[in-house]
Amino acid sequence: MQNIDWENLDFSYMKTPLRFVNNYKDGKWDKGALTEDDKVTITECAGVLQYSQSVFEGLKAYRTKDNRVVTFRADLNAERMVNSAIRLEMPPYPAEKFLEAVDMTVKANEDYVPPYGSGATLYIRPYMFGSNAVIGVKPANEYQFRVFVTPVGPYFKGGAIPITLRVCDYDRAAPHGTGNIKAGLNYAMSLQAIVEAHRLGFDENLYLDAAERKYVEETGGANFIFVKKDGTIVTPRSDSILPSITRRSICFVAEHYLGLKVEQRRVLFDEVSEFAECGVCGTAAVISPVGAIFDHGKLIKFPSGMDKPGEITEKLYETLTKIQYGEIEAPEGWLREIK
Ligand code: PLP
Ligand code: COI
Repeated sequence: MQNIDWENLDFSYMKTPLRFVNNYKDGKWDKGALTEDDKVTITECAGVLQYSQSVFEGLKAYRTKDNRVVTFRADLNAERMVNSAIRLEMPPYPAEKFLEAVDMTVKANEDYVPPYGSGATLYIRPYMFGSNAVIGVKPANEYQFRVFVTPVGPYFKGGAIPITLRVCDYDRAAPHGTGNIKAGLNYAMSLQAIVEAHRLGFDENLYLDAAERKYVEETGGANFIFVKKDGTIVTPRSDSILPSITRRSICFVAEHYLGLKVEQRRVLFDEVSEFAECGVCGTAAVISPVGAIFDHGKLIKFPSGMDKPGEITEKLYETLTKIQYGEIEAPEGWLREIK
């Protein structure tokens, strides 16, 4: 195990010894291999550099209580990356090869999987981009798929301390656009909004639907989970948000582990002030409690307050993370052990 101050890691990049690289050329993927070289060399005219043809994934490896190393629902990341690639006219990276590449990269950097109980995890970043020269607007015909890993702490400073969001005047994703895939372009266009939110003292943006600006979509990097006063979970359904694996898992956990009712439906922004609790969820965010949402001069405060997560949010967090760390039994197929 590396000598790292695991407890105090934040969500930033740390170079680890090995990464996986695989190239696509003449209609096929090569074998792929681990390399120590963290530099990517491509033509100045590469599809990714000119027209942002790139997709990525984010998942984590956890060290369990009994010292196994596991990934969480990696098959769903593999599937989502296939869908992202298809939408950007890229050759889908085969799901089986994706899982092998993730396993191999985690295994090769095993010393960097944080110890159980430290609060840190190993973040895994698979990604893929158009690598040959493209000057007219069209898909590349050569691609590179890579996986690197980096140990991380909480995405939001303070971990379980509730965050504050603001309703954003920029749109994140158009109806029938690319909001439902994990492509770098969705994040490039969110940068001005996040810098502005931070400058104004908010942690993240709440995006509304672009067509009517009436419904809650998601934040820049996580889906929403609301809790009604009767304990029912409500989570926005939309074709222009990322289908979060964490959100899908939380809905299952709420129903099958905690016996809660779950509503997945369109959520009017006007309903938000009636909810008892709010959280944002994702691989990086896990479940981060939201204490308040600022809407153009009006502050919506959740009854759960600004000091700690709401009771149900806390229960969901605890159950989900206990499954991820192997403390309570996971549903069949959710944990993939890396041997
Ligand atoms: N929404 C956006 C825009 C994201 O970037 C992420 C992060 O991956 C999520 C939601 C959460 O998705 P997941 O739970 O699959 O990590
Ligand atoms: C993740 O949760 O894996 C993401 O990619 C979100 C990103 C904002 C860090």
